[in-house]
Amino acid sequence: HGSTQKEIRMSTDTEERVGSLLETSKGANVVEKSIGASSRSTKSSSSLVTLKPVSAAENNIPKEKISAELKLNEEKMKENGSVKAMRAFREKLPAFKVRSEFLKAVAGNQVLVVSGETGCGKTTQLPQFILEEEISLLHGADCSIICTQPRRISAISVAARIASERGENIGETVGYQIRLEAKRSGQTRLLFCTTGVLLRQLVQDPNLTGVSHLLVDEIHERGMYEDFLLIILKDLLPRRPDLRLILMSATINAELFSQYFGNAPTIHIPGLTFPVTELFLEDVLEKTRYVVTADSDSFQGSSRRRNRQVDSRKDPLTELFEDVDIDSQYKSYSINTRKSLEAWKIVLATNIAESSITIDDVVYVIDCGKAKETSYDALNKLACLLPTWISKASAHQRRGRAGRVQPGVCYRLYPRMIYDAMPQYQLPEILRTPLQELCLNIKSLQLGGIGSFLAKALQPPDPLSVQNAIELLKTIGALDDNEELTPLGKHLCTLPLEPHIGKMLLMGSIFQCLNPALTIAAALAYRDPFVLPINRKEEADVAKRSFAGDYCSDHIALLKAFDGWKEAKRNRTERSFCWENFLSPMTLQMMDDMRKQFLDLLSDIGFVDKSKGPNAYNQYSDDLEMVCAILCAGLYPNVVQCKRRGKRTAFYTKEVGKVDIHPASVNAGVHHFPLPYLVYSDKVKTSSIYIRDSTNISDYALLLFGGNLLPSKSGEGIEMLGGYLYFSASKSVLELIKKLRGELDKLLNWK
Ligand code: CDP
Ligand code: MG
Repeated sequence: HGSTQKEIRMSTDTEERVGSLLETSKGANVVEKSIGASSRSTKSSSSLVTLKPVSAAENNIPKEKISAELKLNEEKMKENGSVKAMRAFREKLPAFKVRSEFLKAVAGNQVLVVSGETGCGKTTQLPQFILEEEISLLHGADCSIICTQPRRISAISVAARIASERGENIGETVGYQIRLEAKRSGQTRLLFCTTGVLLRQLVQDPNLTGVSHLLVDEIHERGMYEDFLLIILKDLLPRRPDLRLILMSATINAELFSQYFGNAPTIHIPGLTFPVTELFLEDVLEKTRYVVTADSDSFQGSSRRRNRQVDSRKDPLTELFEDVDIDSQYKSYSINTRKSLEAWKIVLATNIAESSITIDDVVYVIDCGKAKETSYDALNKLACLLPTWISKASAHQRRGRAGRVQPGVCYRLYPRMIYDAMPQYQLPEILRTPLQELCLNIKSLQLGGIGSFLAKALQPPDPLSVQNAIELLKTIGALDDNEELTPLGKHLCTLPLEPHIGKMLLMGSIFQCLNPALTIAAALAYRDPFVLPINRKEEADVAKRSFAGDYCSDHIALLKAFDGWKEAKRNRTERSFCWENFLSPMTLQMMDDMRKQFLDLLSDIGFVDKSKGPNAYNQYSDDLEMVCAILCAGLYPNVVQCKRRGKRTAFYTKEVGKVDIHPASVNAGVHHFPLPYLVYSDKVKTSSIYIRDSTNISDYALLLFGGNLLPSKSGEGIEMLGGYLYFSASKSVLELIKKLRGELDKLLNWK
């Protein structure tokens, strides 16, 4: 595949779902994934603002008056020139043709499923139709429409788009709310929010009081949190007979959702598209006698290098990937378009372009047929990240990017035989992801037993995956033996982060290593700042190793690299520093923003008092042994034993036995490790089972910060991880360790 090995870090779809939530332009970069509202939170961060609008009664204004005013405003705006022009555009969208059918179905049914090709106007028009209807019927005061988006960026850009279609400012009748950022007011009647924000809202208000219409968008993506939300909504609907639920999908698999909600009615919006000729590999080969090769790797960060054959001086070259604000991409693309009518316009896109964005004048689509997909091997407790063939639904979506304004051609870089063998739909995320975060959320939402709750899903996950997640949460101390949240578990619920990362942050603040914990957590939650150019791998390797110094640790290397970057930034030598050390300035900047947000989160839940200044939690931040211990606390039970085998060292994990160290790690090729264990961020199966970023740690780190300790059967030592790890220790050492751990537990039980 010729990709840089670093890029394997996240699958394209994880990248899109998580990466997108990290927004570059607006400076609010937080992972929008889990829920957990903090009841103790004192700071009124926007995540805790209720989703329902300020009611008329609270404002002491009669409802009738509010409704009448809303209607009056609406009518005034209709005369506005730009609103009129927008109106003409809107009326041409396929969604407009079903307007009255849609409104009738919404009025007459509690649940409705709407499907239609990307770009037909679901997201921007359907919620707006409801809004206009409610206002014109003088129900404006009581109306509160919420539309969820899987990505932060779309919540913002769609709200902005609708506001401008209505000739308003964002935050008036149309607003958005994403974690730590909102634009809305008492006047807001249509609110776009991320799925995560809605789930957090459900912690405080399980009945979604005051919400009149809920639209769940992009359900065809089958994201884990959207599937999760649907289970909750199915339970909620009977309690809220007046609530209207509208599910929106870009593909025609509406039946599945309709059945899930008791055969709810469906509406399909027919697209107005031109024919797109489909050419498979054999068709192209016959005609042209040459082969086009391409790989499915996300070309992020490397497209310029890899696509030199495209002359970017003449041809406007646009890269579309999730980290970049979609709206500004829309804009830059249309400017390019106008300037250079003679040139080819080339869009290189990850699979974000499949269903989230539409560029009208695309004529040719080249589909490589592959995507990197995460899967989860429950038996081996192993995440796999392998390029796989896409589904027929995805292939269809890719083809549909052309043919919007004129006939188009779709080149498939694979034979028809492959297409025929493709699955109809991609496996939903809930079936191919580790479930620990989801399980924590089930607990924090008090939805009952984890297993029985997940069994109610549209496509329930494998009980073994559920069991693994529960076991892991017990092992890290988030759940007790009865599967209830421990104090640590409760803290972890309040952090919208993967539990390992959350635990590392908590321990970092308790043990006065906050700065390094923030940096490492940011890299783990986002991505590694080191880049590995294919043709300069060795040089890049040397640079990375020099950061690690004497420590056999990728985490220390990234810590030092980050600190070096901060220093270089102060000295205004950032560019050369990044260039010489093979670091991505964009990633480092993102990490810096995320660190600030993590700090806010820790302060929200009372672990950090920001008024004490930046040095208050960093007494041991320069003590790298201590930092390694904190890493152990966070990453446990991701432990391998290093065993000498002659001149070499072999590495063993509890779950899958022998593993390899990823070639990009500073620990690759090291034959002698000073300490007996490694903790690692994750292990993946690609060409072999690799552990990625790893850190060499001591027995003490494990004994003090690892999981439950049990006296060994012989009575002379200590066992951990069900006997997988064994430490010989005298009775007095054992006593001491127990005592220290008792103290540690007390710190974590802090409420
Ligand atoms: O949700 P769906 O994919 O069905 O379509 P949409 O997001 O509602 O967009 C409908 C049309 O509005 C698209 O075809 C775009 O031409 C246009 N649009 C835009 O120009 N700028 C945006 N920020 C969003 C949509
Ligand atoms: Mg849409």
